[in-house]
Formats: sequence, C-alpha cells, structure tokens
Amino acid sequence: MNILTRVIGVVSGKGGVGKTTLVSNLGAALASVFKINVTIVDCNITTSHLGLYLGMYYSPVTINKVLTGEEPIENSMYEHFTGMKIIPASLSLKDLSGVDMFALKNAIKNLSGKTDIVILDSAPGLGREALSAIRACDEVIFVTTPFVPAVMDIVKMKRLIDELNVKTNGIVLNMVKREKYELTKDEVEKLAELPVISIIPEDKNVPRSLSAKVPTVVLYPNSPASREMKSLAAMLIGEYYEKTDPFTSIINRLKFW
Ligand SMILES: Nc1ncnc2c1ncn2[C@@H]1O[C@H](COP(=O)(O)OP(=O)(O)O)[C@@H](O)[C@H]1O
Ligand SMILES: [Mg+2]
Repeated sequence: MNILTRVIGVVSGKGGVGKTTLVSNLGAALASVFKINVTIVDCNITTSHLGLYLGMYYSPVTINKVLTGEEPIENSMYEHFTGMKIIPASLSLKDLSGVDMFALKNAIKNLSGKTDIVILDSAPGLGREALSAIRACDEVIFVTTPFVPAVMDIVKMKRLIDELNVKTNGIVLNMVKREKYELTKDEVEKLAELPVISIIPEDKNVPRSLSAKVPTVVLYPNSPASREMKSLAAMLIGEYYEKTDPFTSIINRLKFW
C-alpha cells in the first residue's frame, strides 16, 4: 500500500475493450479539469499502445529500461500538454530482453510522493504482464464491453484480485450501444457481483480523437464518451461533475414542464 500515492490499475479479461483509451482520458481529465498531479504508465509492454495514443513514437527512456534496472523511474516520465505525466513502454521488440515484469511493483513504489495518482494501463487477462500490474496497484477498475464472454473473464479475475488483497472499484461498461442484444447494467452487476461505476457509450469521437493522437476529453470535451469519462475521473477523487450536457438538460427541463 502506497501512503502518499494512490495506484489505480485499469484491467480487463479481454483485449480491445478500451483500457488504453480510458487510461489516457482519465489521466487527461484528472490533470486538465481537476488539476491533479497524475502519472499514467504503460504496463502492457509486449503490445504497448499508450504512447502511440498520445503521439509519442519514440522516447529515449521507457518503462522497459526501468524494468531492466538501467534507469530510475523518474527518468522515464514525460509531461503531456494536459499536465499529466506519461511513462511509455518501448515499441521496439529488442527492448523486451532483460525486462523483469516483477520489478514493476518496486518501480511504481518509487513514484510515491512524486505524483498523487498513478494509473496503470494493464495487459489483458491473467498472464505474467497483467499480474505484475495488478500486484503493483492498490485498487483496480475493470473495463468490459456489455457481452457475456468479457464479463465472465472479469468474474475469474475478480477472484484472483480478491486473493491478492487489491481493492476492486467496480466495472466500467464501455462501447455501450443500448442494443437489445447487449447485457444491461443489472445483468452485468449480477454476473460479476461488482457495481457498474460508469457506462461509456460507443462514440465516434473516440476513434476520431485517437487518429488525432489527442485524448477525447480534450479534443471533444462535450462528446457523450468524454462527459462520462470526466464524470468517472471526478468520482475517483470524490468530486462532482455534471455529465449531462447543457443541450440535453434543457430538453429534459422542457419535457418536465
Ligand atoms: N467508447 C468508445 N467508443 C468508440 N470506440 C471506442 C470506445 N472505447 C474504445 N474504443 C476503440 O476501441 C479500440 C480498442 O480500444 P483500446 O483502448 O485500445 O482497448 P484495450 O486497451 O483494452 O485493448 C480503439 O480503436 C478505440 O478507439
Ligand atoms: Mg491497451
């Protein structure tokens, strides 16, 4: 347990459900909207995307060099224009040699006092990489799409995470279209025995902002996904954020009258 710094892992059973998207947007929202000193870390070193999502194609020092023992973690931190700090992983295959994933926990501990919140972008599943990220954090957020296989993977993960005494914050349901064939919030909560803490809609502005290499909450701050992600960022730090956009709230008020 880190006393000065809170370490939150963003995890999932399945890949492609939106972890990296969420990590980059939570980081950007916490830094730019709520003025929190936050650091996001790419812990998915075999298929690292976090730097790519933010337009960082080459960084002289990455988490790989920290995990080989060549560099202290402070040397791998880069400041984004939103104010968040990023610790990217190398994109080069050769930088995987000599990396000790189990050194991650101690490396993250060294961020204690240097940043208020650390968010780890984990590899999916329960392999060596994902387990090292889970072991390095104080609490986790699960990300899933509203379908049975992805939710069942979370059930399995939750059991293991409970055994490791890591706190589970709940589930983020992502890419929700509100179609009949999708699981509902209640169904997910019953299956996983965890609360759903955020429902992020499928939103074209997410891939649009990805192609611009700018977090959605920055490029399209009022888009439906951005509002939900800012609201989740607020919830994590005990703040309030009105997620209904002004237009919808006027319509709702008119409907009420
Ligand atoms: N709410 C969303 N709406 C639309 N597309 C999304 C949303 N969340 C994520 N995506 C897209 O889904 C893909 C996978 O997301 P990513 O964050 O890389 O998943 P993971 O890190 O879990 O593998 C990306 O192309 C991303 O743009
Ligand atoms: Mg990812």
